[in-house]
Amino acid sequence: MKKKIAVFGTGYVGLVTAVGLADIGHDVFAVDIDRTRVKDLKKGYLPFYEPGLKKIMKTVITAGKIHFSSESDKAVNRSDVIFIAVGTPPLEDGRADLSQLRNAVDCVIEDLDSSKVIIIKSTVPPGTIDALKELHSAELESTKSEIVFCPEFLREGTAVHDFYHPDRLVIGSDSDTAARIVDDIFFPVVGKRDVPVLKCSPVSAEMIKYSSNVMLAARIAVMNELAEMSETVGSDIIEIAAGVGLDSRIGNSFLNAGPGFGGSCFGKDVSGLVTAAAARGVELGLIREILTSNDKQRLRPALRLEKAVGSLRGKKIAVLGLAFKAETDDVRGSAAFDVIEYLTEKGAQVKAHDPLAEYNFIRDFKKKGYSCTELVEDALKKADAAIILTEWKEYRNLSPECLAGCMKGRVIIDSRNIIDVNAFRSEGFTVFGTGMVEVKPKLKSRNRSDFMNAAIVSM
Ligand code: UGA
Repeated sequence: MKKKIAVFGTGYVGLVTAVGLADIGHDVFAVDIDRTRVKDLKKGYLPFYEPGLKKIMKTVITAGKIHFSSESDKAVNRSDVIFIAVGTPPLEDGRADLSQLRNAVDCVIEDLDSSKVIIIKSTVPPGTIDALKELHSAELESTKSEIVFCPEFLREGTAVHDFYHPDRLVIGSDSDTAARIVDDIFFPVVGKRDVPVLKCSPVSAEMIKYSSNVMLAARIAVMNELAEMSETVGSDIIEIAAGVGLDSRIGNSFLNAGPGFGGSCFGKDVSGLVTAAAARGVELGLIREILTSNDKQRLRPALRLEKAVGSLRGKKIAVLGLAFKAETDDVRGSAAFDVIEYLTEKGAQVKAHDPLAEYNFIRDFKKKGYSCTELVEDALKKADAAIILTEWKEYRNLSPECLAGCMKGRVIIDSRNIIDVNAFRSEGFTVFGTGMVEVKPKLKSRNRSDFMNAAIVSM
């Protein structure tokens, strides 16, 4: 049944949720305290890149199914249901910063005039919903309103797809009525496709969200450590992932080794859980180590490059990929920060490229010694070596002939294992994939100097 819904926060989660809810038939009022952002959204401009979002947003704006505003009271008064999807970034000590959430909840509670369901989408530490319910118990009881936790599992880059094709809907609520309302709201994407709906307590739902990200982060961390091992014993991490993934208890997704996980969620949620546990006297030693392990991985592409080319001083290095993964312009937690910092500190001249994330990277990385190029070829021109950090399709399709034509050196660090190693090998490149030994160039003629050159490059 169509509901009048307010969504607080128009970031990666809030905006996709608001637009998706409008598209499945609800009447949505999206609220953000950033007035410039609201102005832009009204004109249909997106504050970030998310595949497929612009098109749906245009449709729902034109159909009058979504409105944007900075006036929270108006949004609350006209709505039966209020989603809160504001940021909960990490504080210095690893705890989640709940100030934006508290402000948003305060705004909603202040204007609460009738029975409403407040659905928290922001990721929060266990116990937060119960604490909010206790803090606002008088207003909630007098208006017969409820606070529910409904974790989000959207991935940047595929968030629109994930909204329409969720694996599950988790509803953390003490009230069956409120849980039914949440279930009804998502019926068009959940009910019709028989998606599992798990109803549980708010604190279990909070733990499910943290645990899901911790499990995914752990999986990647394990694969990256196995990749490091693989490089020393001569096995191939892609073959290992295939073999391990065939065990139905393990499954084959999220087994790609790479330059460590990035993004704004895994690191934040691992430390959020660890600090929440520590505050209760519980030591999550294994989970804490995920971050130490990941930090180490982020630098490995740069260290492998240094090993391959020797001193970096004066070397021209092309860094391909600044976004933390493909199909997003988000650079938060990207390995590019660590890699470029290391290379420039060692005296390399770095030219970086990314199809979408250049602006955000320059905004966030104020250091000297690197520049960004609009065309990938310009980054590669006369480069002694190249490092691929993001799995953009454009880099998958790089032509070995083209690289051979414009690069000076013949070393590629393919941290995402995306290029056709054999094709590059035939053009005389030495390729270092993550979790595999370097693939040395195929020698066209077997003379002594070719052997010597190949040996020097791979040293
Ligand atoms: C992650 C979760 O996947 C979402 O379910 C969750 O909703 C979201 O966090 C969140 O909590 O908001 P996201 O950070 O957008 O989503 O991106 P992922 O696709 O999970 O990738 C995270 C990082 O892991 C990226 O750096 C990616 O390159 C890396 N990764 C992923 C690997 O290194 N290997 C893999 O096999 C998969």
